[in-house]
Amino acid sequence: MININDLTDLQKGQDRRKDAFTIAVAGKGGTGKTTLAGLIIRVLVERELGSVLAVDADPNANLNELLGFEVQGTIGQLEAEVLEDDGEIPPGMTKKRWMEYNLQQILAEGKGKDLLVMGRGEGPSCYCAVNNILREYMVNLSKNYDFVVMDNEAGMEHLSRRTTSGVDALMVTSTENPVAIKSAQRINELVKDLGIQVEKSYLVLNDISKELPERTDKEIDKLGLERLAEIPRDESILELCREGEPIDQLNPESPSLKVVGRLVEEILPDSMKTPKADRL
Ligand SMILES: Nc1ncnc2c1ncn2[C@@H]1O[C@H](COP(=O)(O)OP(=O)(O)O)[C@@H](O)[C@H]1O
Ligand SMILES: [Mg+2]
Repeated sequence: MININDLTDLQKGQDRRKDAFTIAVAGKGGTGKTTLAGLIIRVLVERELGSVLAVDADPNANLNELLGFEVQGTIGQLEAEVLEDDGEIPPGMTKKRWMEYNLQQILAEGKGKDLLVMGRGEGPSCYCAVNNILREYMVNLSKNYDFVVMDNEAGMEHLSRRTTSGVDALMVTSTENPVAIKSAQRINELVKDLGIQVEKSYLVLNDISKELPERTDKEIDKLGLERLAEIPRDESILELCREGEPIDQLNPESPSLKVVGRLVEEILPDSMKTPKADRL
């Protein structure tokens, strides 16, 4: 029998290693999913809370621009390649090994954060062998990070298809627009129907420029989602977008960044709120 005292510190660390704290952002298009994901990532990196894997799971991928990454390729492209042309796989290499090698190439690496882009391309059900490889890879990959931040498409279908591990904090974004609020409701229901394991769901209101009318307030209350934060309309976000600058360039005094700083504080377990170097 193995005695715990016989293990090296490294082995003990590995045994104890928990899955990454996973934050997923969902909401109607244009409500600020990518912006929120970018702001959260900036806060995590700036406070040195741990390593971050950013996952762009919106087919209209643009998180890379906000994070300042060049996209080398997407999982969708890789899936298509494997399925269309098995002959490309070098002789002597299994499909699994070949995919894993290519997945490593796709992963964009940056300072304190890496990025994986899902891209387009959802195949018929016979893709499941590939999906299984992908799922296994994602589960293992996320174990290398302290945080996973996923920017999702409006629906969350791919989440259940592509990952088995759950979500610690789901942020549903909405503006005060009634259509966006309705979408938030649908997304919240969809997540339940899909059986995605979500530890905690929150509502994040974004692009708020004035006090909400009472009627809107009531509609929002009906969602039954905890109101986590209200991000104001922020001129510096618009400017960043106009200039095509990454989130790192956002003014530290910008009101949206301050709100998201508090939001991060709110959702993290106490054990993850201090810089990682101080926690070891
Ligand atoms: N709080 C905000 N203040 C000002 N502009 C914002 C704010 N949040 C988002 N935007 C702008 O709104 C647009 C849509 O935001 P985005 O994050 O891309 O939404 P989504 O990812 O949900 O489609 C972008 O141009 C973004 O710069
Ligand atoms: Mg987006």
